[in-house]
Amino acid sequence: MELEVIFEKLWEDYKKDNPSVNKMHQLLHDEGEIISNDHIAIRTFDLPGMNIEYLEKVFLQLGYVAKGTYYFEKKQLRATHYEHITRSQEPKIFISELITESFGTIIESVANEIQQTIMQHDLSPNQLILAHNLWKPISYKIYTELKDESEYAAWFYVFGFRANHFTININNLYKHNTIEKLNDFLKSKGLILNSSGGEIKGSRKQLLQQSSTMADKIKVEFIEGTYTIPCCYYEFAQRYRDQKGKLFTGFIADSADKIFESTDSIIDS
Ligand code: NI
Repeated sequence: MELEVIFEKLWEDYKKDNPSVNKMHQLLHDEGEIISNDHIAIRTFDLPGMNIEYLEKVFLQLGYVAKGTYYFEKKQLRATHYEHITRSQEPKIFISELITESFGTIIESVANEIQQTIMQHDLSPNQLILAHNLWKPISYKIYTELKDESEYAAWFYVFGFRANHFTININNLYKHNTIEKLNDFLKSKGLILNSSGGEIKGSRKQLLQQSSTMADKIKVEFIEGTYTIPCCYYEFAQRYRDQKGKLFTGFIADSADKIFESTDSIIDS
């Protein structure tokens, strides 16, 4: 499968379940902006056959290379980011995985079940990355139990393999070309930004600033009935050049840590 096809499928899925994504695209389009992506983020668990090492094959065979690894102590996550080796305009890929052994029996048993289901389907990395949750039906009770241990695990249990978020590359915007301008514009149009750790994560000095919306809430079918829960968010990234004039292409673990919380349930309303 071609890279463009994979991106297109990830994007279509993402857009379908997140009405504010369409709204933002329309708003920016109306301002004359052309949108490009800084990165696309994918989540998984650290078990063989579904971990970073398995999923990265999709991108390694299509011209990407691993460029940085990250560790999130509080959330017990590892991540790797990938860049296209020749086409710098291609979005970076950010794959994270939950370190399952750091958690209790609920996560362990759910992770094992998920892994077994995946094994039965015998999917290539290209198929798996677009496969959503193969382990349907899902239980709301399990979802809430997982949430107490790890919001990340709960999100993955419900939504599985898909883009967790796309990220607008602010550097490529024409009018709203700073993170402050873009945030102000989106807020003026009624969008709600994630304010965990401040609206803007990271600093000019760190060469990367990020912000994000809070995830759209969507109706999901569980064994117990239909519940409304957070799905995906939209992220915005502005990158700066270092003293040598080189544009920073990495990620800042502390900032990403807060961005991850964009899929947390705020107060359920
Ligand atoms: Ni991100």
